[in-house]
Amino acid sequence: MNIETLRWHNGALEMIDQRVLPARFEYLVYGSAAAVAEGIRSMVVRGAPAIGCAAAYGVALEALRLKESAPADFPTGMEQGFAVLAASRPTAVNLFWALERMRRVWRDAGDAAPSAVAETLLREAHEILAEDIRINRAMGAHGAALLPDGARVLTHCNAGALATAGWGTALGVIRSAVEAGKKISVIADETRPFLQGARLTAWEMVQEGIPLTLIADNMAGHLMAHGEVDAVVVGTDRVAANGDVANKIGTYMVAVLARRHGIPFYVACPLSTIDRNIAGGADIPIEERAAEEVTGFRDCRWAAQGVAVRNPAFDVTPAELVTGLITEKGVVMAPDKGKIAALFC
Ligand code: MRU
Repeated sequence: MNIETLRWHNGALEMIDQRVLPARFEYLVYGSAAAVAEGIRSMVVRGAPAIGCAAAYGVALEALRLKESAPADFPTGMEQGFAVLAASRPTAVNLFWALERMRRVWRDAGDAAPSAVAETLLREAHEILAEDIRINRAMGAHGAALLPDGARVLTHCNAGALATAGWGTALGVIRSAVEAGKKISVIADETRPFLQGARLTAWEMVQEGIPLTLIADNMAGHLMAHGEVDAVVVGTDRVAANGDVANKIGTYMVAVLARRHGIPFYVACPLSTIDRNIAGGADIPIEERAAEEVTGFRDCRWAAQGVAVRNPAFDVTPAELVTGLITEKGVVMAPDKGKIAALFC
């Protein structure tokens, strides 16, 4: 099944509403930077690469929307568009990477008319989307070689087609291994509090007939202790220059458990997710989300009224716990500052 997380249709951006999966499969339509920013903030679209693609389309949509405005108003409107997109979510660096790339294209267009700039920006957004799928395929090929036939692979959150333009990063590795003829089964942490594992990863694998067993997050250690996990593969939202990995809250716990049980812990990571401006994980901004995500789900509340709540959406796994970073350029075993810098040479 070809899952189109985002698509350009009839002059607008359409995005699968990931908040209502798997109960409903529907697209929402977007026509401006502000609307796309709200889609990112409210998690209609989520997952680092998908957020980057959405932001790129947000910029292009804003240019299309403003192309008939007075030439002097165009830059002001565009700057507002960039600002609202940049403020949508803080952790996934792909958002800022995509905005920077779109800004460069805008700058390179020089004095071109707004309508020409808008068309150029739209072409760039299409290219970012197509490139993301190619990169996921390349990571998939490199990562698949790491998984033995018959491997039982634990993953956390959703780093699949829904988190990217298609194919996926961590789930892309699993898809590629299956495509290569390996018999792979997946163990998915449900991923409290937003349930990306139970709702999205499970849905993707069921669509494709890849065997998946769903567990609550607190069961991973038990399964590892009983020899039921052969490898862990997760995605990431931002990797610091020293190889520290920010990913969905709970990933750090899984990495510690994996080390304790001698299980390889791999991170599928496109180069666009590496932030060389941040030296170490401690400086990665961690989003804190609404308390309501922890105290209940949708209209069901289970926590006592008035209780204090924390809801950090990501955590940082130190590089020393990462067996390998799977990138489109190959696998970096035991990542560190030097090996990461070499990826960009
Ligand atoms: O809060 P989310 O759902 O956007 O978090 C997503 C993750 O943490 C993913 O693991 C990460 O973005 C990698 S997606 C290929």
